[in-house]
Amino acid sequence: MIRLIWPYIQYEDVEQAFREIFDSGMFTRGQWSQALPRAVCAYTGARYAFNATSATTALSASLEVLGVGPGDEVIVGDFSFPASVNVVEACGAVPVFADVDRETFNMLPEELEAKITSKTKAVMFVSALGNPSGLLQIRGICQKHGIPLINDAACAIGSSVDGQKVGSIADIACFSYHPRKLLTSGEGGSITTSNSEWARQLEIKLLHGATVADGKMDFVTYGYNYRLPELQCLMVIKQIEKLDDIVRRRIETQQQYVRLLQPAGYQSQKHDAGVVHNMQSVVFVVPNGVDRDGLIDHLAQRDIESTIGTYCLSNTSYYKAKYNSVQPTALWLEQNTITLPCYDGVDAGLVAREVLAYTEGKGN
Ligand SMILES: Cc1ncc(COP(=O)(O)O)c(C=O)c1O
Repeated sequence: MIRLIWPYIQYEDVEQAFREIFDSGMFTRGQWSQALPRAVCAYTGARYAFNATSATTALSASLEVLGVGPGDEVIVGDFSFPASVNVVEACGAVPVFADVDRETFNMLPEELEAKITSKTKAVMFVSALGNPSGLLQIRGICQKHGIPLINDAACAIGSSVDGQKVGSIADIACFSYHPRKLLTSGEGGSITTSNSEWARQLEIKLLHGATVADGKMDFVTYGYNYRLPELQCLMVIKQIEKLDDIVRRRIETQQQYVRLLQPAGYQSQKHDAGVVHNMQSVVFVVPNGVDRDGLIDHLAQRDIESTIGTYCLSNTSYYKAKYNSVQPTALWLEQNTITLPCYDGVDAGLVAREVLAYTEGKGN
């Protein structure tokens, strides 16, 4: 089976340190839990980082420290995994869907401008499939209006804009360590910010709502346990060490697909000049007339895993029924994109041959 992604970590990478963790009996809140935020700060350039159990919990905690709640609106890039909008809905705010660029798949600046109201409490820019293109323009608009910007960077660790790593560009960024991502700990996530007040509040929220003075906890608000255990923190640290290399190899594989598929009309996800896209997902818009779902089935029959690009959030059953605000480009992308396998050693030539065989035969 050719899978979509294969983790960039082997047991040997962690064996010795795992043994030490077992010997120490410290499975949480030990040296690795403390080391992970330092590693994430050092890599991204953010001043503060926090561990979380997933990008979803990271995003939830971020919305909370921004004070987002009932009566507020949050503008969300519409081409994403539903977690991006679920966290907004879950805190009682109204999600406002912003349509995306047909080439980068990211929130359009003019859509954001048009959808800002006096109720806009935050903007959620999704780095779609790891691509941070447009983030600087969106940040400029947010700054002009004094609105905090969260980057749903679940897919974007290792990406950068003009040499600045994702994680230090928006006011707050949230990463995922799910196995479909470049770094994995099974489940997990991180939050980064360079704002000291939000960092102070995050620290409290993520410690059950407690401050600590002289070794004593004072529960000054309600809070959560979104802690990532020692074994998971260690796994992420081991992969951050080789992240730039992982990104470089993924870009090479994506370029190989582009060379093979572009002549047949497959359009790759584009990125702006100055952007390094980590290629968390290698996604193409299929040519006119090609039945995308038929292509996914064709590949599956040949033991090649593929999937849609991602979702049009406003067209998912719940949000469509509740807000009736389907965004046309995000919908078009959901219907016309395909994600192809990418990992070290993937036979991209074989995958591309099967894609082309389908394209030339059935479905167009
Ligand atoms: C853009 C985006 N945001 C959020 C999430 C949720 O991440 P997690 O599974 O770590 O909660 C995902 C997961 O695929 C995602 O792609």
